[in-house]
Amino acid sequence: MADETKPQGTQPSAPPTGANPAATPQHTMVPGGDAPATAAAAAATGAKPVAPAAAATSTPGAHAARPAPPPRPPAAPIPDLAGKTTNVASAGGAAAAKAPAPAAAKAATRDPDDTSPLLTRRAWMGLAWGAFSAASAAALAATGRFMFPNVLNEPPQQFKAGFPNEYGMGVDERWKEKFGVWIVRTPDDIVARAPGFYAIISTCTHLGCTPNYLSAESKFKCPCHGSGFRLTGINFEGPAPRPLERARIVLADDGQLLVDKSRKFQWELQQWTDPEAFLKA
Ligand code: FES
Repeated sequence: MADETKPQGTQPSAPPTGANPAATPQHTMVPGGDAPATAAAAAATGAKPVAPAAAATSTPGAHAARPAPPPRPPAAPIPDLAGKTTNVASAGGAAAAKAPAPAAAKAATRDPDDTSPLLTRRAWMGLAWGAFSAASAAALAATGRFMFPNVLNEPPQQFKAGFPNEYGMGVDERWKEKFGVWIVRTPDDIVARAPGFYAIISTCTHLGCTPNYLSAESKFKCPCHGSGFRLTGINFEGPAPRPLERARIVLADDGQLLVDKSRKFQWELQQWTDPEAFLKA
């Protein structure tokens, strides 16, 4: 006869009197027999299931020979997020409700020898401030560099070009590389109608490239867009809109040719007629 007053789901244990479990089914509600019910009850409570044979033995001698289960060690306390401690028994239900708590508690209590790549919030803040400081320093340095102009090592605008008797007829290129000037000695200038010297600035009047002197063709040819200039500086081909410019050329006190690029003369403005745009010799 089943005892309906006995609480269900309690820890199964062997009958104290060695009664046959088949005759005392009051400690299970699982259909199908005592063994599954006992295992299920053990699983629900975390207790070690008892072997049905041992639990169901009715021999007093066998009951006395059954070894007692060893005592369970006390559960180690587990710190939670709030810094409080709990144990397995009390945390069993809370762990299911708050699953991330153990992981967070572990991250907050890392050991000094923990080499995992996780960074603490303090470390992340340090990295962020470091990056911000580096970017600010770079921006400040760029601003400071902007405040100072580049150093331009331009050649002097005025230079002495030697004595007139050092020149033959035609174009002299010795000053082009350093000063950007050709000195031309002509027997008959198209403006002055006299023999003498003039200095042509080697800057193309189209977009500023440096033309080349082609002695075989007696012309200056710009390599950028093909403008061509005669030895007088007059443009005759290509996109250049006007002749090359001439520079001031006079005799210095020591008798040398003195060229001054700071003063320029343009043909289209009739400036080639200026006395300092041509040196008669
Ligand atoms: Fe000389 Fe264009 S810059 S032709």
